[in-house]
Amino acid sequence: MATITFKINRFNPDDERRGHFMQKYQVEAKKGDTILDCLNRIKWKQDGSLTFRRSCRSGICGSCAMTIDGVNNLACEVQVMALKRDTITVEPLRGYTVIKDLVVSLDPLVKGMLKVKPYMITKTPPPTDQERLQSPEEREKLDGLYECILCGSCTSSCPSFWADKEYIGPHAFLKAYRFVADTRDEAPREHLEPLDDKHGLWRCHTIFNCVEACPKDLNPTKAISELKKALVNDKF
Ligand code: FES
Repeated sequence: MATITFKINRFNPDDERRGHFMQKYQVEAKKGDTILDCLNRIKWKQDGSLTFRRSCRSGICGSCAMTIDGVNNLACEVQVMALKRDTITVEPLRGYTVIKDLVVSLDPLVKGMLKVKPYMITKTPPPTDQERLQSPEEREKLDGLYECILCGSCTSSCPSFWADKEYIGPHAFLKAYRFVADTRDEAPREHLEPLDDKHGLWRCHTIFNCVEACPKDLNPTKAISELKKALVNDKF
């Protein structure tokens, strides 16, 4: 067991006078405890007003994304002891509007997703006796594209998003490429064309922050470069 100090960036919209401030909590943590376990302990035993999102506790739903010691990550996946620190700073994801404490508005994330039509578009009728098939090689091309859990970490880390809140965002570009690269999709242009916009692909300056920030080790920058090539070469 070890006593860890958590410095948590707090904000209550009903307390304008106080604004954003750091609050300290001491938590007893043992090997295997995650940041989320400790936040739950604070909420349940010390301060019920502390507000954060969580659901699956398994790195699947993306709800618990936050900034932990300056790095965007999933609170349910970061083990406290692995950080090897006596004091851990926890803040809301940067770039989004804070609603309360560690909860941010993910409206920009949703707006970006809707622009890229994040679903398969087909024009021909489906086969009557089987699903639309792919070869194993065609299916393999989607690895690294479909696993995004929409936690918002990548877009939160992106300077282009900090400068332009209408920026479509790396999460949405990755999703667009997931369908552009899918051999069963019959309208790649419909995913691509919304990206050819002043808030779109060309605002990416290949800084790679999104790659660093992704807790699922995905590579939105590579997807962005493939999408840029597809647009420039009018490949579709
Ligand atoms: S609680 Fe679902 S990803 Fe952390």
